[in-house]
Amino acid sequence: MPASIPDDISFDEFDEIRSPKMEATDIEKVSQTVLSRRSILGKGIAFGATAFVMGATGLSPVAARAESSRLKFEQVAANDLDTITVPKEFDWHIVSTWGDPLWSDSIPFNQTTRGTVASQELSVGDNNDGMALFQHEDKNILVSNNEYVNQSIIYGNRESRKPETEDDVNKAMAGHGMTVAEIALQDGKWGIVIDSPYNRRITANTPFEISGPARGHAMMKTAADPEGVLAVGTWNNCGNGRTPWGTYLSCEENFNGYFSSSDENYQPSADLKRYGVGNKDWGYAWATVEDRFDISKTPTEPNRFGYVVEFDPTTPNSPLKKRTALGRLKHENAELVVAGNGQVVVYLGDDERGEFLYKFVSSGKFTEGGNNKDLLDEGTLYVAKFSDDMSGKWLALTPETTGMSRAEICILTRRAASKVGATTMDRPEWVAVNPYKAEAFVALTNNKNRGKKPNAGGDETPVGGPNPRAENPYGQILRWRPANADHTSEAFEWDLFVIAGNPTVHSDSYAGSKNITAENMFNSPDGLAFDASGLLWIQTDGNYSNTKDFSGMGNNQMLLADPETGEIKRFLVGPKESEVTGFAWSADRKTVFVAIQHPGEKGNSHYPDGGTAVPRSTIIGITRKDGSAIS
Ligand code: FEO
Ligand code: CA
Ligand code: CA
Repeated sequence: MPASIPDDISFDEFDEIRSPKMEATDIEKVSQTVLSRRSILGKGIAFGATAFVMGATGLSPVAARAESSRLKFEQVAANDLDTITVPKEFDWHIVSTWGDPLWSDSIPFNQTTRGTVASQELSVGDNNDGMALFQHEDKNILVSNNEYVNQSIIYGNRESRKPETEDDVNKAMAGHGMTVAEIALQDGKWGIVIDSPYNRRITANTPFEISGPARGHAMMKTAADPEGVLAVGTWNNCGNGRTPWGTYLSCEENFNGYFSSSDENYQPSADLKRYGVGNKDWGYAWATVEDRFDISKTPTEPNRFGYVVEFDPTTPNSPLKKRTALGRLKHENAELVVAGNGQVVVYLGDDERGEFLYKFVSSGKFTEGGNNKDLLDEGTLYVAKFSDDMSGKWLALTPETTGMSRAEICILTRRAASKVGATTMDRPEWVAVNPYKAEAFVALTNNKNRGKKPNAGGDETPVGGPNPRAENPYGQILRWRPANADHTSEAFEWDLFVIAGNPTVHSDSYAGSKNITAENMFNSPDGLAFDASGLLWIQTDGNYSNTKDFSGMGNNQMLLADPETGEIKRFLVGPKESEVTGFAWSADRKTVFVAIQHPGEKGNSHYPDGGTAVPRSTIIGITRKDGSAIS
C-alpha cells in the first residue's frame, strides 16, 4: 500500500475515498437477500466433521473428514512475531530479496538510500507476488511479479517519504514489473545465479506488443503510439499463470493509481472512473516525469493497462505481449486449464468490491508440441452469474449480448459484464483448478460494501448466493464444478468450500463455516494454488491487527486444505505487516517457494535482516527437515 494512502485502507478503498460511489442500497433489498442467505446457509454450506449433502443440486456429497488426515504436520499457532513460522518438521530460507543484485555489475542494496534507479534497474524488484519456476535444460528459472513499491519504505531516506527527485520516481518505475532470475541449489538452499543469461528485469519502461482484439483500436492509440500496437511497461503485476506451451502469464491489477491530471478541472470519462482512474494518483508522481501518465494530456494511455501479459522466460529477450482477449480488469491471476477437447480455458478474477468473475475460452485448440503461441489471442470471454439454488451460468460477452464490438469488450470489460447482468462478487482474487477433478476454487477475499454499496458501474451488491454476509470482513472460498466435468461448459454448480470467520468472537455466520475453528481461523483468503498431490494452499492478505473481529488471528498466513474433506490447517505465519502471496514448487517437490510481500508496511518490521534494517520483501524456500517432498 503506497505511503500516501492512509494506514488501514486498501487500493480500492483509496479509490472510493477519491471518487465516492453511490449511496447504500436500501435496507429493504438487503433484508430480502438476508433471507436467501439464511436458506443457503441452511442448505449446509458448512463442511467439516459432518458430512455435506447438497440436496437437489446434483453435486456429489463431500465425504466426511477422512479418518487419516492428509495434512501431515503439526499446525502452527497464530502469532504476531516479526519472522516466519513453519511447522517443526520444516525449515525455511531466503531465496531472493528486494534489491538483490542480478548481475556482477549491479549495485548492492544500500540500507541508507534504499537504492537509486541505477541500482534498482539491475536488481530484484519490490513486493514480489505471483511467481512460477521453469525448468529449462538443466536450469531453474524463477519468474516473479513485482507488484508495487511501498513509498514509505523505498523513500524512507526522505523526510517526506515521497518521491522528491526524478531519480526517485524512476527508481519506483524500475521496482515494478517482473524479475526473471535463474536460481540454483547450494548446500540445501536456493539462491540467485548472478550473471545468468536468463536473468532479466521487466519494468514500467519495457515495451510490450499489444495483441488480440484491442490491437490497433482507436481507444488504444496515443500520440507516442499512433497505431495502438505497442504499450510501454507493466505495473501492479499481481497474481500469475503459466501455460502448457512454456510461457508465463502476469496479471496487471491496480494499474489505475499511477495516473493523474495536471489539469485539476479535467473530467475523467465514466469508463476511466469505472477502473478508478482519476485526477489524483497514489503519490507515485509518475506524471511528473512522463506525460503519458497525465490523463488530461494522454486520456487513452490507461486503456493500455489492466491486461494479462505473456512471455517465454526460457528465451532471453523473448518478446512480451499484452493478451487483450483476456479482458481489461484489475486482474488477480490467470488459472489456465486445457479442456478435454483441447480448448484453453483461463479463469480470471477482477479484484475490486462488487466486480466479477470471468473465464476465457480459446477458439483454437492446444496440441502437444504444436503451434500454440497465440492461442490466447482469439476466444470468448464469459462472466459468471450465480443463482441461489446453487447453480450458475457463464454468460458470453459477445457483440450480440453486449452491443459492443469485440475490441470494446476487451478494453471496457467491466462495462460489458454489467450489461449482461453478472453477479457482483466479494473481490475475486486467485482461482485454482483441481488437477484431479473438474472443479475450481476462487478466493473471495472480503467486501465491506456487500449489501451496502453498488460497484463503480452502479450494479447492486445484494447479500446472497456466493456472497452471503453483509459487510463481509472475513471472506470465503467459492467452489464450482462445470457441467459434464467440462471447463468449457456454460452451466455449473457451486458451493462454498469455506466461510472464514472468527468463532472466538462471533456465534452467527461471522463465526465461519464448520471447518473453521479457534485453532485454524484466518481472514481474507487471497492466493490459492493446488500442489501436485491435490492439496489446496491458501494464502491470506487481510487484517493483521489481532484485535476485535480479528483477535487471535495474528499475522497473515498460509494454510493447507484438503478439498475432499474440507480440513484446513495453518502451515505458516508471516512476519509483521506482511502478506503471504505467490507459489512455486521445485521439480522434485522438495521445495515450495512462497513470497512474503510488504513486511512492515506500517513501519513495524525489520524482516528479514532484523536489528534496525529496512524491511524487504522476500521469496523464501521451504523444505522438509528430512529432505522428503513437501506434500
Ligand atoms: Fe494484488 Fe488482489 O491482490
Ligand atoms: Ca492478491
Ligand atoms: Ca488481497
